[in-house]
Amino acid sequence: MSRYVLLGLFHEATPTANTIEQLRAVGISDDQVTVMSGMPYRPEMLGRPRHRGRVWRFAIVGALLGAATALFLTVGVWLLYPLVQGGQPITPIPPTLIIAFEVTMLGTMWASFLSMLFENRFPAFKSQLYDPRVTEGHIGVLLEVDEKLADQVEAILKANGAHHFQRVEEKRPLFKPRGGTWQDFKERIAAAIGGPDVGHRKFWLAVLTILVIGGAIGALVPYGVFPISFPTQMENQISIAYEQGPRRAAPAAAVPVQGPVLIAGLPATAPIPANANSLQRGEVLYGVTCIVCHGATGVGNGKLSGFLSPKPADLTSASIQGISDDAIFLVITQGLDAMPSLAENLGVQDRWDVINYVRRLKK
Ligand code: HEC
Repeated sequence: MSRYVLLGLFHEATPTANTIEQLRAVGISDDQVTVMSGMPYRPEMLGRPRHRGRVWRFAIVGALLGAATALFLTVGVWLLYPLVQGGQPITPIPPTLIIAFEVTMLGTMWASFLSMLFENRFPAFKSQLYDPRVTEGHIGVLLEVDEKLADQVEAILKANGAHHFQRVEEKRPLFKPRGGTWQDFKERIAAAIGGPDVGHRKFWLAVLTILVIGGAIGALVPYGVFPISFPTQMENQISIAYEQGPRRAAPAAAVPVQGPVLIAGLPATAPIPANANSLQRGEVLYGVTCIVCHGATGVGNGKLSGFLSPKPADLTSASIQGISDDAIFLVITQGLDAMPSLAENLGVQDRWDVINYVRRLKK
């Protein structure tokens, strides 16, 4: 059975209201009828029920989904992989609140946006009838009916003074499912989902299905369910270890350095005597830069020492105290294994002050 899309144009609200009243009498429900108008007629003026948007419901669901995602990211992940850092609580409240707020808002906004499209029946797959006179103040009554009702509806529209009338056979869809007619198929789905506007609902059902399936597949990738080889960890990537050979040969013109190691532009020996001022500065700077690892007394028991391998050196020991000033200068400047370069934290002068102080840590 073919279906028709009918459009009638009216001048006034009253005949429009009468038409809708009579359409209802022949069994056409309000949501089958679309009234188009450039004028802000309230639905009550046309004897229609007020349309209640459902965007807010989608927004609430989106917000709940967002909040659940945020909770998973902030709390769930740390419960799965607990990693205590620097004595901080595993889910510190300030960043957790920020992430929870952001992701909840993200869920709300996406849900509102998509439901707005859904509510406006986007995308439209059916024959669209429109008359530019609607923008000029005419009221258009648009509806889609079965063949058997089409003549009756046309008569109702004309009897109420529709001054312009269009009737179009519903366009055949591009593809037809196998077995049964497209119409049967549509009716079956319509019965299942409970609505006449099948194309539109099916589209959103497909979008939802793709999102759910895609999301599920995406979520399983990190667990190796789908063997896609990502280079995930730097340590698994092709790389060269620290000072690993082959090394470049020194340039022919290079001069081998004997004795104290020189860094271009920096002094090789302590330029400041270990006077009271230098030692005081050194003590303060040691407390700021070295104490976390080497500890207050210098024996290498600072707060961070437990996390380091090799352990921080015992600065009071004879072996470290036996190292020359310029060698310690070099260690502070360039770092050594787990000890980072502190050149950004300490100026040249500061480094010498610290070295003067380190000398006082001797047992
Ligand atoms: C992040 C922790 C850390 C900080 C901060 C740190 N060190 Fe070290 N330091 C170490 C570790 C670890 C070692 C042992 C390295 C090794 O044995 O390979 C070390 C070794 C040393 C050594 C011995 C070097 C050698 O040749 O064996 C000296 C001297 C030293 N640190 C001085 C300092 C001074 C002075 C400061 C402050 C300016 C400082 N460190 C700050 C971790 C630290």
